[in-house]
Amino acid sequence: MLNIALPKGRLGDKVYNLLSSIGYDCAEIYADNRKLVFENPDNGVRYLLVKPSDVAVYIAHGAADIGIVGKDCLDEGDFDVFELLDLDIGKCNMCVAAKNDYVEDPDRPIRVATKFPNIAKRYYASFNREIDIIKLNGSIEIAPLLGLSDVIVDIVETGTTLKENNLSVFQKILPISARLIANKSSYRFKQDTINELTEKLKVKLQEEKK
Ligand code: PRP
Repeated sequence: MLNIALPKGRLGDKVYNLLSSIGYDCAEIYADNRKLVFENPDNGVRYLLVKPSDVAVYIAHGAADIGIVGKDCLDEGDFDVFELLDLDIGKCNMCVAAKNDYVEDPDRPIRVATKFPNIAKRYYASFNREIDIIKLNGSIEIAPLLGLSDVIVDIVETGTTLKENNLSVFQKILPISARLIANKSSYRFKQDTINELTEKLKVKLQEEKK
């Protein structure tokens, strides 16, 4: 069995649709239950539904062979995994955003609220700007509204959340998309199975680009 870690939520649905379109379906995944492990013995795959930020952890530790994860979660950690393919879905940008009328005070550190402290630190360190990080786990957009932070570093997909909270993008840090990743020893021992799936995904992505 090939153990595949899938991210639960928004990206997970897109990823699962992509996998099913190349024959790796598992109808039971849509059943209304709390199961987290789904198998399709016919094509030899087992899906593990995990939090998006945990996908690479399962892969790095070998608890899953391959997985699909946003580049945001991959860059935030320091995972010893192979990145096999850019799936061109779940596209968004990592951005600095703030209140529409925000003006930076160059004489003090910028207070940055984020779920991605490492990405934020690397970004500001690249031009030697001092910051104070406020690590949050969600609803980051509230932080500047309440004066908890000056800016946020967060993913922006449609821009709706920013707009509805009177925030604007001030800088784009990096483009994000979903990546297929593999555990290094799984890749060695299950190379044929993993390559077969990767090739099918490549063909599908090419078809969609036409
Ligand atoms: C993410 C992100 C933004 C929002 C951006 O949050 O942190 O809040 O999506 O999407 P948009 O540009 O399409 O509005 P998520 O939905 O993952 O929830 P969270 O606030 O719990 O992190």
